[in-house]
Amino acid sequence: MSANAFSRLPHPRPTAEDVRAAAIADPVFGRIFTDHMVSIRYTEGKGWHDAQVMPRGPLTLDPATAVLHYAQEIFEGLKAYRLDDGAMALFRVEANAARFNASARRMAMAELPEELFIAAVKEIVAADADWFPQVDGGALYLRPFMYASEVFLGVKPAAEYHFLVIASPVGNYFKSGAPAISLWVSDDYTRAAPGGTGAAKCGGNYAASLIAQQEAIAKGHDQVVFLDAAEHRWIEELGGMNMFFVFDDGSIVTPPLTGTILPGITRDAIMTLARDEGLTVREERYAIDQWQADAESGRLTESFACGTAAVVTPVGKVTRHDASFTIGAGGPGQVTAKLKNRLVDIQRGRAADPYGWVTRL
Ligand code: PLP
Ligand code: COI
Repeated sequence: MSANAFSRLPHPRPTAEDVRAAAIADPVFGRIFTDHMVSIRYTEGKGWHDAQVMPRGPLTLDPATAVLHYAQEIFEGLKAYRLDDGAMALFRVEANAARFNASARRMAMAELPEELFIAAVKEIVAADADWFPQVDGGALYLRPFMYASEVFLGVKPAAEYHFLVIASPVGNYFKSGAPAISLWVSDDYTRAAPGGTGAAKCGGNYAASLIAQQEAIAKGHDQVVFLDAAEHRWIEELGGMNMFFVFDDGSIVTPPLTGTILPGITRDAIMTLARDEGLTVREERYAIDQWQADAESGRLTESFACGTAAVVTPVGKVTRHDASFTIGAGGPGQVTAKLKNRLVDIQRGRAADPYGWVTRL
């Protein structure tokens, strides 16, 4: 199937002008959706077919649809931006297309040709171009996803898949407005183990992480920190973000991609930007006790989380059991702010993009 074979069904009753205006004036992450969705079907033996841009609406699923039983589902998250000059742009969409297929392979699902993934993303942005939020830090969050749509209860990779893209106008992920987030270290729960699905962006990873995130929120924190499964010692990542640690000698550390954490696209961009700023970047294991000791001695000056939804978010406080420690002065640090500004300036077209990360539409 070619990447320009989409049929387009415009919405017969698009959202009322005043409702859309209110939605894009005060977006809440993932709560309000645009008028359209992209849908493409896969059937074993036939390949990808029936690519459509259509009015967004409910899916009808047979109760025996495979995903409802064995959770064969993967997704991506990326943002489209309205640049200062009015053009629309995507950030690193090729990397999302590649990671989607890496997730598909791990979950024994059909791979989607990367040019089709990119075309689908461009289609929804074009269809819903009047949904860009008009707030500082706003973007159109795009959620490509795919589920096993075969109606069959046998435990095996499905022979049919349904790929969709939906879109949501978003502002800042953390509504609290606090200058830095507070983290809770989970000792009871593990997100991923070696040989598991930790590096895949599959719904099951998030299902498994929710109880720990719920515990973090119940204790008054913003996000959960997961430690490694084997020793419960090494910092892995947050429920929906990768971690970076900044030291007083100008170096930064992020946990290595050992198969148990998501290979974040923001993480990769930050490593590149940091190196170009003259910082030494090390991908190496960092222990939870060391984090506390380094924060208390002042050797560690900053910590931040990063991801598509969260962009770059400073960490102010960490709690494990009943003990807490503060990072730096508890607010945003200089290195974090500098890296965030470098990233956002490229994403928004305010700075040159020597890396070819931005696709203007
Ligand atoms: N880790 C997890 C578990 C995530 O859900 C995300 C968000 O996508 C990230 C890390 C950051 O990845 P990216 O920068 O590609 O959005
Ligand atoms: C993203 O950043 O795109 C994610 O999928 C993470 C989640 C917190 C929404």
